[in-house]
Amino acid sequence: MNRRSIGIVMNGVTGRMGYRQHLVRSILALREQGGLTLPDGTVVWPEPVLVGRDADKLRAIAERHGLTAWTTDLDAALADPANEIYFDAQLTQVRGKALRAAIAAGKHVYTEKPTAESVTEALELARLANEAGVKNGVVQDKLFLPGLLKLKRLIDGGFFGRILSVRGEFGYWVFEGDWQSAQRPSWNYRAQDGGGIVLDMFPHWHYVLERLFAPIQSVYAHAATHLPERWDERNRGYVATADDAAYGVFELDGGVVAQINSSWAVRVDRDELVEFQVDGTEGSAVAGLRNCRFQHRAGTPKPVWNPDLPATEPFRAQWHQVPDNDEFDNGFKIQWERFLAHVVADEPFPHDLLSGARGVQLAELALQSAAEGRRVAVPDLSL
Ligand SMILES: NC(=O)c1ccc[n+]([C@@H]2O[C@H](COP(=O)([O-])OP(=O)(O)OC[C@H]3O[C@@H](n4cnc5c(N)ncnc54)[C@H](O)[C@@H]3O)[C@@H](O)[C@H]2O)c1
Repeated sequence: MNRRSIGIVMNGVTGRMGYRQHLVRSILALREQGGLTLPDGTVVWPEPVLVGRDADKLRAIAERHGLTAWTTDLDAALADPANEIYFDAQLTQVRGKALRAAIAAGKHVYTEKPTAESVTEALELARLANEAGVKNGVVQDKLFLPGLLKLKRLIDGGFFGRILSVRGEFGYWVFEGDWQSAQRPSWNYRAQDGGGIVLDMFPHWHYVLERLFAPIQSVYAHAATHLPERWDERNRGYVATADDAAYGVFELDGGVVAQINSSWAVRVDRDELVEFQVDGTEGSAVAGLRNCRFQHRAGTPKPVWNPDLPATEPFRAQWHQVPDNDEFDNGFKIQWERFLAHVVADEPFPHDLLSGARGVQLAELALQSAAEGRRVAVPDLSL
């Protein structure tokens, strides 16, 4: 067996995403399964090096998981030739500096989204990586969720006929932090710290719409800060300067209209925290994180509008579940496996920093649309 160890500098592992999804559910899970076996039989063995600002927290994480490599010195970690990949799950605002240093050190880079706070910086990072000839990637985890994989199966199988529209509903109530602690970090609600639901979620909607349906031609968004006051991790009140809800309309190539509501100020009356309804000439489907239900045109009821009568049909019961027909792994881990195969065996990996920059572009244009109260065209972005 040809075993190929690969050092991965993991910055931001004390955070929510860095720890749970990337370290524990992806890299450590890969080690638990014996590494990643490539088609030629090579076993890729990830060696994480934990990097952060707080030595005590890093030591505690390392000890908890039987790891020994951790440091607060990013430059030293980047100077070690055994570390071929730099991964970033830091606060968005501080990401650019670290990515630039990693690229300059000749490391392949993989990062959480949004890749930067502005499209100018996002594009610059993509260019730098390209010029340095390093492999690069951005997390686009939603594509690998079981619900969206099932939706993709329906699209690829021609189920929908001509797709007409997509309506997405994302969100849940994020507690204000006073009488119950908030379940998301407070920086998300401060624009000056890189927060805001548009910058957080529109990069996701960009790749979901583009990869599953068609490229986005224009965006109209209405952004709101519904809860202007929140309480932080230390129970101090602060002014929420960032948008906590966004109501977006997107026109896609081919005339598909997508509408997506994103909100941290909504209570859930759905089966899942995000759901996308897709309507086509031949049938419709509603995909969530895990499940996807569908209704064929032959099974479509014919309701007649009459407010004087109670609902005549059990509408929710008229849908069928798409069967699993497969085993679904964690979406972050699947994407890590593909990135490692890209680095080690040059397998294709379309989720690059340019694609990440296009996600940031959509967020930026959506904020412009909200500020100006008008629809904004989404121009092509290239290196
Ligand atoms: N792919 C997804 O679905 C998804 C979901 C949530 C967040 N994210 C992204 O992941 C990144 C991290 O988000 P999170 O929710 O894990 O945040 P978090 O606040 O839990 O973690 C932030 C991490 O950045 C580190 N950090 C470095 N410099 C910092 C500074 N100056 N101030 C504060 N923290 C600093 C922290 O120590 C911590 O490790 C963000 O860019 C966010 O947009 C992605």
